[in-house]
Amino acid sequence: KVYTDYFFDEPAFNTHDGGYIPLEAPKTPQEKLRIPALLEPDKETDSDMYYTVVAQTGETQLLPGDKTKTWGYNNSILGKTIVFKDGKNIHITLKNNLPEVTTFHWHGLNVPGPITDGGCHAPVYPGQSTQIDFKCHQRAATLWLHAHPCPATAQQVWKGLATTVIVQDKTEKQLPFPRNYGVDDLPLVLQDRRFHEHNQLDYMADYDPDGIQGPTPMINGTINPYFDVTTQRIRLRILDGANRREWRLHFSDDLKFTQVASDGGVLPEPVDFTHLMLTCAERAEIIVDFGAYKPGDEVTLYSDDVPLVRFRIHQFTKDETQLPDHLVDIPDPEVTPDTKVHQVVMAGMDEMVEINGKKFDMQRIDDKQKIGNVEYWDISNTNDKTSGMIHPYHMHATQFKIVSRNGHAPYPNEHGLKDTVGVNPGETVRLKVWFDKLGVFMNHCHILEHEDGGMMAQFEVYDPDHPKTYKLMDMDTL
Ligand code: C2O
Ligand code: CU
Ligand code: CU
Repeated sequence: KVYTDYFFDEPAFNTHDGGYIPLEAPKTPQEKLRIPALLEPDKETDSDMYYTVVAQTGETQLLPGDKTKTWGYNNSILGKTIVFKDGKNIHITLKNNLPEVTTFHWHGLNVPGPITDGGCHAPVYPGQSTQIDFKCHQRAATLWLHAHPCPATAQQVWKGLATTVIVQDKTEKQLPFPRNYGVDDLPLVLQDRRFHEHNQLDYMADYDPDGIQGPTPMINGTINPYFDVTTQRIRLRILDGANRREWRLHFSDDLKFTQVASDGGVLPEPVDFTHLMLTCAERAEIIVDFGAYKPGDEVTLYSDDVPLVRFRIHQFTKDETQLPDHLVDIPDPEVTPDTKVHQVVMAGMDEMVEINGKKFDMQRIDDKQKIGNVEYWDISNTNDKTSGMIHPYHMHATQFKIVSRNGHAPYPNEHGLKDTVGVNPGETVRLKVWFDKLGVFMNHCHILEHEDGGMMAQFEVYDPDHPKTYKLMDMDTL
C-alpha cells in the first residue's frame, strides 16, 4: 500500500492562516547542499565519548553578496552533526560564546532533567561553560539539539541554533538501510527564512505570535540546494526545524518513498508514501530509491509546489536491496493500574495561547508522574476545526506511543516511538507515556512562538522513595 495523502485535516494546514507566508522558489543560483561535518569527539574510548559543543556567532554565505550573520554549534550556522552511541557514557562540555544566555536542549534524548535535558532551568551564561554527563541508553534515532532559553527559544533557533543528533545502536546496524554519512545518509533540516537588506535576518521585523515564517526555503543552511546522487538508494533524516512551518513533502513524478523511522527511531514496519507532512520538530527518516532514473536526470523534492532540493542523478551501481516487512519490535507496556489520565488542553492562537487555562510559569510544576509508571496523556487542541491551527505537541524525557486520534487509529507512520505529535484542531490524541529518568521537564507546543508565548507547561518525574527538590529559575534570574 502506498499512502498518497497527508493525513492531517486540510482546513488546519498553515496555508489557511491569515498570516501564512507561502514559500517561493529562490531565484539565486543552485548551490551544493551543505552536509554538516560530523562533530569530532575530543576523545572516545570503548565506554566513553567526550565532546565539546560551542554555541557561537558567525557569518554564513547564504545568498550572493553580503554574508548573513548567523549562530550555530561549532559552525557558523546550525551545527555539526553529533553522534551518540547507545550504551556509552557521554561527557559534553557546553560552551556559550554568544553575547547572551542560552541553553542546550537535547530534543528526544532520554536524559535527566532539568539540567542535562537543557531546558529553561539550565542556563549557560555568555563566556561560560558547563559540563553534562549521562549514559546514552536508547534506540537508534534522529534527534536534535536546539536552544531553549525562555522566552527566547524562537529567536535563537531563527538565528541558527539547531543541529542534528544521531543515536546509533546495534539493532539499527543490522537493517539494510543506507548509512554512509554524507553520501547516502543525509540529515535534511527544513527551515524557512526571510532575508532583509544586506541579506540579514530580522526576527523582530518578521515576528508573528503564531510563528515566524519566511518565503525562502533553507535546507541545511543552503538556499536553493542540489545534491549529487551517486547511489541508487539514499536515506534522508528529515527534521522540521522551522519555527512554525509545516512541510508537505513530495517528489517529482510522485516518486514513491519509504518511511523507516520516526522521532524515536525505527518503525515497526516500513511505510510507503508519495506525500508526507511534517509538523514542527517532527522527524522522518525516509529511503528514496532512484532505480528508475539514469545519469543526467533530476528528481526534485517539493513542499507544496516549491522545490526544496534537486537530486542530480549520477552513475550508480544497481542496488536490489529489499526492506524486510518487519523492521523492529516496538515496546508497548501495559498502563499502570489505577493511574489518572493526564489532560493537556492546548487552547488559543496569537498571544492568547495557553495549556489548561494557564500560561507557562517557570516555577510552577503542572503535573507529575512516577518513574516507571505507564500512564495515558490526553492531548487536546481546542482550536476551531475549520480555521484553527495544528499544534505540534512535544514532551521532553520520553519517547511515547500514540494510542489514538479522537478514538481512531493513529496514522500508519505513527506506530513507532514519537516525542512530538501534530494535534489537529478539535482533536484529542491519546498517548501512552513512560519515563525512566527523574527530573523536571517541559511539555509544549513546538511552534516556537507559541512555546515562548506560554503554550508550555512543566511536569516532574519523581520517585516516591527518594523525593527531590529542584531549584527552579524564574524568568528574571535568567
Ligand atoms: Cu524541541 Cu522543549 O523542545
Ligand atoms: Cu525537547
Ligand atoms: Cu501551537
